[in-house]
Amino acid sequence: MFGLLTLVVLAFVTWELFFFYRRRASLPPGPFAIPLLGNFINEIQLPYLHVAFKRLTDRFGPVYTVHMPMPVVNVADYEILRDVFRSNDVADRIHNVMFEVTRSCENGGIVTSNGEDHAEQRKFAISTLRDFGMGKNLMEEKVRLSAKNMIDFISKQDLNNADLRWPIQIFVSNIINEFLFGYQYPFDDCVKLMDFVLGFNDAVADLSKSMIVPFVFMLPWTRHLPIISYFWGRTQQKFQTMMNYVRVEAAAVKYDPADEPTCFVQAFRKNNKDQRFEQLHSCCADLFLAGQETTTTTLRWAMLFVAAHSDVQDKVRDEILSVIGRDRLPSMADKAKMTYTSAVLHEIQRCANIISPNPFLLHRATVDTKIAGHSIPAGTVVNGDFHQIMKSDPVFEDPERFWPERYLTGDGLALRKELVDRTIPFGIGKRQCAGEGLARTELFIGLVTLVQNFRISPLPGSTIDLKPIYTVVHFPKTQSFRLERI
Ligand code: HEM
Repeated sequence: MFGLLTLVVLAFVTWELFFFYRRRASLPPGPFAIPLLGNFINEIQLPYLHVAFKRLTDRFGPVYTVHMPMPVVNVADYEILRDVFRSNDVADRIHNVMFEVTRSCENGGIVTSNGEDHAEQRKFAISTLRDFGMGKNLMEEKVRLSAKNMIDFISKQDLNNADLRWPIQIFVSNIINEFLFGYQYPFDDCVKLMDFVLGFNDAVADLSKSMIVPFVFMLPWTRHLPIISYFWGRTQQKFQTMMNYVRVEAAAVKYDPADEPTCFVQAFRKNNKDQRFEQLHSCCADLFLAGQETTTTTLRWAMLFVAAHSDVQDKVRDEILSVIGRDRLPSMADKAKMTYTSAVLHEIQRCANIISPNPFLLHRATVDTKIAGHSIPAGTVVNGDFHQIMKSDPVFEDPERFWPERYLTGDGLALRKELVDRTIPFGIGKRQCAGEGLARTELFIGLVTLVQNFRISPLPGSTIDLKPIYTVVHFPKTQSFRLERI
């Protein structure tokens, strides 16, 4: 009996090894990998995936295979990635067990759905974001109102030791909250929202640091093993809490078909083809989660960069005072006249580089295809390495330096297109960020309003710490500022 069992196990292991290395041979080159562990022991240390990916690019070139533990083809060259991600061949997301909690129906929502469902919900979300902005610029108005409330709130704080993290968070969260559910939280009464955000940060930290997560993502059966099932269950529970929050909010929105929709939930119930509440819930959850932490984190980085580089801050303020003045709220129409501020925003997004390689954003080939001459069989997982392109593309001279002038033409009057094109914090192609327009509005109006109203400096005797907290989102460390009213 024991002999037979040993034989079966040996046959299974041999088959697995054969299959693993045969598949490995059909993909672009990459480091030696071990079945089940992939490159987690010899190459990758979590949460420093971006460091390993850079090292591997230096060794194998811009297209290579890394095992996490399943094979992932990483693409770290702008031109190659642009062509690949603009085609439909690699536009799907991978199947991932987190869907058990982050979607409430099969193939629901936008971020992780595929095929026709994805195309329909993405189109509906983008057009609703646009409709609310059309003609009367309603979305922009919501951003301006939230920015004004933020400045009023900050002005009542101790300006010698000011916390900007929560004011920025509420500024951004309120905009997506109003877009989805039709209301804003008062700045001084938003404990519910703050609890949600802290829960989200905690869940994201789990996703980034735990060795268990990549295994469960790539080899879902491992989530039933002892110990792994315990830790996986804890991570799932954190996401479940966030999903429940969104469910309650979406269900509470009042809707009368006779009225013109004023928020996403009402627009969905009036105009979306798929009328299931589960689909509505999944879309709201995607927009709520994708739409606040990313923009908040970028604006928090913006504060650190302008506080650490007072010369840049002064130039932005000079431009604000000459184009907008001291008292008027900024509008997006001003942006075209503010080349220097636009350059600063690009440099902030490039240097903050907040999205690290991320299991939620992996793509999957839907057909046999080619990437830079390499054969890529259907089903292969592909990562667009936006992070590395923004950090290491040779067009960015001295890439570690925060230097907005790099984006300006010699006369300083226009932006350099070849650099702007390669600054891709929102991704590129078929899966490019669905909220980019809103995010750019929030970043411009948020930064301009803050610099227009306050001189932002480090606390006396301290310096700004620009080292990130490494998770799948690169968060800045929380730091207080000294603010002087302008
Ligand atoms: C600075 C802020 C933001 C950054 C840096 C950012 C970045 C990204 C990136 C890198 C992707 C994935 C691209 C890919 O997989 O190829 C993405 C997808 C997405 N983002 Fe954003 N995002 C931001 C703000 C927003 C906002 C405000 C919203 C919603 C209002 C939003 C909604 C989405 C959605 C729904 C997707 C999935 C698109 C799809 O799979 O079709 N994002 N974002």
